[in-house]
Amino acid sequence: MRPDARIEPVPSLEFLAAADCERILVVRDRRADALAAIAVHDTSAGPAHGGIRRWRYPDLATGMADVVALARAMTWKCALAGLPAGGGKAVIFDRDGLDRRAAYRLVAGEVERLGGRFFTGPDVGTTAEDLREVAAVTQFVASPDPAGAGDLALATARGVLAAMRALARHLGCELAGLRVAVQGLGAVGAPLARLLHAAGARLVVADLDAARAAASAADCGAEVVPAERITAVPCDVFAPCALGGVIDEDLARRLPARAVCGAANNVFSGDAAARVLAARGVVAVPDFVANAGALIAGATFHRTGLPAPPERIDGIADTVAAVLARAAAAGRPPGEVALEIAQERLAEARRNPR
Ligand code: NAI
Repeated sequence: MRPDARIEPVPSLEFLAAADCERILVVRDRRADALAAIAVHDTSAGPAHGGIRRWRYPDLATGMADVVALARAMTWKCALAGLPAGGGKAVIFDRDGLDRRAAYRLVAGEVERLGGRFFTGPDVGTTAEDLREVAAVTQFVASPDPAGAGDLALATARGVLAAMRALARHLGCELAGLRVAVQGLGAVGAPLARLLHAAGARLVVADLDAARAAASAADCGAEVVPAERITAVPCDVFAPCALGGVIDEDLARRLPARAVCGAANNVFSGDAAARVLAARGVVAVPDFVANAGALIAGATFHRTGLPAPPERIDGIADTVAAVLARAAAAGRPPGEVALEIAQERLAEARRNPR
């Protein structure tokens, strides 16, 4: 199984074996009829980190494929972020009438039984209130209290800014004066736009929510375009901070940007789109390198009880510089090269487990 394997409903036990996880648990609260799965992929470098996703999967196989793929992706992300941590993930199988409290407590009980091997937190579908339920059962969860690890979305924005700084250097320029198109002005996109503005970048922004776009125009002097136009705006850097899968092969052929660097996970619809963009000479900073700020902040807080020092998050720039240099020398997409670097680091951790 490739390290960047995408989510596909593969129902076989062979698939689960090939997923190469240390543990895969399927747990059920029979009374509440709640079902969840936990995958701990690799703890060679340190405890597995990964959030809890609550999602309506069409069937058990799809959910199992998802939890495994997400746990593996967390291992590569931790390795690239240089964290003494590995990858894990939990999924709750959502359905009409699900007893949400029971479902989160079910996961929490298993997390507690894993005794620190897996440290969990938020993901799609999980709110601060859900995390409070989890925290009532186990200590191995990111505090829903922002006073703990700090503002995680801001940490992500700061990491993307660091990534963009390294990208600008790779392109032979500085952030100041670069024209950056930010798609999505939510928890990450809005502070990112402010940080870019402070660094002297020129901004063009879009959000489906007109009020968010207007706020960014007021804060950062950004030019606002309709959401459907943002990928057609000529710019130096396209910064996707809304949804994943934005760049398909068609957009990859025509995106009028020199580079892509943003927070959105899985920004390409598939490997082919990444290759088309790379073939045009457009430099794409891998999302899982650029958006690691929240992970760094959360994992650091878990380990030390303190917020991550800003320079720790700024270190994302060094990884980006290394990835882009190797990708340019080899003439390969940066995403492929980043996975290769992650695997080298993981192999090293496996040779010398902590
Ligand atoms: P959010 O939900 O706070 O903000 C997303 C924004 O994008 C919203 O304002 C929404 O209206 C806008 N949007 C949605 N579709 C759009 C479209 N087609 N065109 C323009 N705007 C659109 O999400 P958040 O937390 O800011 O995350 C953004 C991305 O970054 C997501 O893909 C997320 O998975 C990823 N990410 C977030 C992290 C975090 O710390 N919050 C960490 C790592 C990745």
